Amino acid sequence: MAEIERIVILTGAGISAESGIDTFRSAGGLWEQHRIEDVATPEGFARNPDLVLNFYDMRRAALADAEPNAAHMALGRLEREFAGELLLVTQNVDDLHERGGSGRVLHMHGELKSALCSACETRAPWLGTLIDRPACPVCQAPSLRPDVVWFGEMPYQMGRIYQALEACDLFVSIGTSGAVYPAAGFVQEARSHGARTLELNLEHSEGSRMFHETRLGLASRLVPEWVDEVLAG
Ligand code: APR
Repeated sequence: MAEIERIVILTGAGISAESGIDTFRSAGGLWEQHRIEDVATPEGFARNPDLVLNFYDMRRAALADAEPNAAHMALGRLEREFAGELLLVTQNVDDLHERGGSGRVLHMHGELKSALCSACETRAPWLGTLIDRPACPVCQAPSLRPDVVWFGEMPYQMGRIYQALEACDLFVSIGTSGAVYPAAGFVQEARSHGARTLELNLEHSEGSRMFHETRLGLASRLVPEWVDEVLAG
């Protein structure tokens, strides 16, 4: 593999699928069980906050039973052993990357284990339920919501992500359907600045045609194999 010095990785729900976490658009996924407009939009939260808070309590409970899989562990090893620059961006709101050994993870869609105050915009670690409207630890208003970016909201740290996409020489997408922007546009952004682009996915995604290379299979096999390749130089 040509000298790779700066890597940007984007992960989606597929990397956590083998840990038992539901994806969104695979068969039986979350968007077959729930309506996006009811549980993943600001309008849905305003209309029926308890429905939304129960949805996120259910997802947090599922996370308690999940363990990081070989793909998460391989990315943790990559962070420890890769001599170049690495930015790991995830659309996932679970903490499996961190528990798999990744110390620097950019959660562009927020995190289940964090709460956001709708009044003062404080983000605070939050492990328990929000159903009883706990007071914000900063402004004391009873306005904590899940710190998850909903449809129509702006993801976190987009400036930092685009800066890294412009400078990277390799962009790797793992376990995402390429159905949601702006994440779905990252491959084009990286490619337009000269990066090589690689997709590791169970099946072809909406963005597959944009990648120089697509490898199909389980993340738990493809990701460790790819990390071995990169570290072998
Ligand atoms: N290994 C590799 N890829 C897998 C595996 C696996 N074991 N299992 C599923 N996949 C792939 C599927 O083929 C699919 O392409 O992971 C992808 C999952 O796609 P989605 O369910 O759409 O999840 P994601 O791409 O992360 O969704 C993007 O949409 O609704 C929002 O908040 C949600 O952040 C999420 C965003």
